[in-house]
Amino acid sequence: MSRLNLTRLRKMKAEGNKIAMLTAYDASFSYVLEQAGVDVILVGDSLGMVIQGQESTLPVTIDDMVYHTANVVRGTETVFVIADMPFMSYSNSEQAIANAAILMAEGGAQMVKLEGGAIVADIIQQLTQRGIPVCAHLGLLPQSVNKLGGYRVQGRDDEGATELIADARLLEKSGADLIVLECVPAALASRISQAVEIPVIGIGAGSDCDGQVLVLYDMLGLSIGKRPRFSHDFLADTGAIPAAVTKYVQDVKSGQFPTSEQQY
Ligand code: KIV
Repeated sequence: MSRLNLTRLRKMKAEGNKIAMLTAYDASFSYVLEQAGVDVILVGDSLGMVIQGQESTLPVTIDDMVYHTANVVRGTETVFVIADMPFMSYSNSEQAIANAAILMAEGGAQMVKLEGGAIVADIIQQLTQRGIPVCAHLGLLPQSVNKLGGYRVQGRDDEGATELIADARLLEKSGADLIVLECVPAALASRISQAVEIPVIGIGAGSDCDGQVLVLYDMLGLSIGKRPRFSHDFLADTGAIPAAVTKYVQDVKSGQFPTSEQQY
């Protein structure tokens, strides 16, 4: 059986079919996610916080990412698998190419994700020209939490909004095939989704994105501390993990998640 691919993800956007994405870090959860109809699994560097108990994603290493990506790939047959490039693993093109190659060749990822706007455009170009598909990550950038001064909604003012739209266009032009857009006002996310042809997957970015992603542990009510406002405890609604994931997929596909209370 073949895995979902970029051509089919683009077609989903073109046809208005929402993409359901979740994070996962091991084979058993990934198997459940695939059975429940999740399209894309992100092996996020959020594993630093939800698996390792770190205060941020910064301590995560390439070895951590390879280990968890390989586990996810072994647990699945048809989902599209994206692996995060950890903090400072893509600070120049040579380093980015070497690390992305490890994530794909050893981890088995179909795509890598990296955070940043115009500053990473050249790196995205260098990766994609070598056949490495890239998901850009815009809006709230967790790897820059120390510079941002906290996990805050981005693009609230005109200048920030204009910059985010320009970044999305630039990164698409540079070769990115997908964008994850984190914590931006819903109206801005809607404009960004319309401004590019590649799918835009939102997290805390409103219902008009081409798809949604959540951190698995948050949507199962397992957040350490306060669950983010844009998430929802689907396990509380359903009482079983497979049913919770199935409900998430249904709610994303039907446009029922996120609601107006779950966006900015
Ligand atoms: O690492 C992660 O899980 C992510 C999501 C928050 C999109 O990047």
